[in-house]
Amino acid sequence: MKTILLAGGAGYIGSHTAVELLNSGYNVVVVDNYANSCPESIKRVEKITGKKVALYEADVKDKSKLEKIFSENKIDAVIHFAGLKAVGESVKMPVEYYRNNIDTTLSLLETMKKFNVGNIIFSSSATVYGEDNKVPYTEEMKRGTCTNPYGWTKVMMEQILEDTAKANPDMSVILLRYFNPIGAHESGMIGEDPQGIPNNLMPYVAQVAVGRRDHLTIYGNDYPTPDGTCRRDYIHVVDLAKGHVKAIDYVFTTKGVEIFNLGTGTPYSVTEIVTTFERVNNMKLKYEYGPRRQGDLPESYANADKAYRLLGWKTEKTLEDMCKDLWRWQSNNPNGYKK
Ligand code: NAD
Ligand code: UD1
Repeated sequence: MKTILLAGGAGYIGSHTAVELLNSGYNVVVVDNYANSCPESIKRVEKITGKKVALYEADVKDKSKLEKIFSENKIDAVIHFAGLKAVGESVKMPVEYYRNNIDTTLSLLETMKKFNVGNIIFSSSATVYGEDNKVPYTEEMKRGTCTNPYGWTKVMMEQILEDTAKANPDMSVILLRYFNPIGAHESGMIGEDPQGIPNNLMPYVAQVAVGRRDHLTIYGNDYPTPDGTCRRDYIHVVDLAKGHVKAIDYVFTTKGVEIFNLGTGTPYSVTEIVTTFERVNNMKLKYEYGPRRQGDLPESYANADKAYRLLGWKTEKTLEDMCKDLWRWQSNNPNGYKK
């Protein structure tokens, strides 16, 4: 049985991926410093799957801690989720973002080399397409110009991983470019639990619905889109997690670098998201239209054909599923993992 190390695995996407890996017969080791998560998510992963996770509290920048983990477990592949991801915060704290996101990557690569582990999957983002490419995005497009330090860390880490693979032909590196992950596990036991005021649309919607925020502001309705609001490629987090299992299966069969978009290929507008959430959950959400948010693009969506061709992966869940599952998680856990 192969063992996968999830760096940053207690977070939103990592915890959902842990469930799917365990259900597919992989062993899972998680290392997290709980900068944006808590160990409760992994307890719930164990409850959902009935399987054990080896859980370590450590900073992934800390190589001595990583070495201990690699010596106590025979790691076959790493999935690198560990990173800071709040775009606005990255503009205010660029040095912390570059330090955390780049150093976690370098420490992982150095430790992998020391322990002769050559397989790594990296959590990249559609943000690397930047402002210069045209939708739908395809993997061979050049990385674009980003509007914030968070985006630049993803661009830089992709470059670091590509250079490392070039210098080490035995390595297998997969860069997964996520579009907009939303929703939660259908059990309602794990989901996204942002600290403070949510930056992203869906956690904000869920907190308005549960009464933690008064109303949603829709950022701009004068974009060149069918209803004037921005369009994004929202993907159910469980579909995304299953994409990681396919990527792990694949990473053991190949060498070099492969890049995959993980998205549905279908964009929805902010207004469509809000009305779908209201309809499927049978409620009214308080919202108003406000000015545009700086740095937002009118549209972002994937061409996801490559993941289907090479990994045999495509999304299965609908926007209705995403909205229902999100609400099940939020209404069962109004304060997230806190009691
Ligand atoms: P998350 O914040 O829920 O998960 C990231 C995890 O990494 C957290 O548990 C955090 O505590 C941990 N972490 C951060 N720095 C660490 C460090 N130095 N040492 C140990 N652990 C550390 O975020 P997520 O939504 O699950 O995202 C996972 C990855 O996917 C991130 O790299 C993120 O940038 C990327 N991504 C996310 C999205 C999205 O919309 N959620 C989109 C594109 C890419
Ligand atoms: C954002 C980041 C992106 C990052 C991704 C995942 C920006 C510019 N981009 O993508 O780099 O990879 O999150 O973390 O921040 N919206 C509202 N009201 C809100 C919140 C959002 O109308 O309160 C709108 C936005 O204008 C956007 C859409 O909802 O059109 C989705 O926003 P969000 O969830 O923040 O994702 P992105 O902006 O696509």
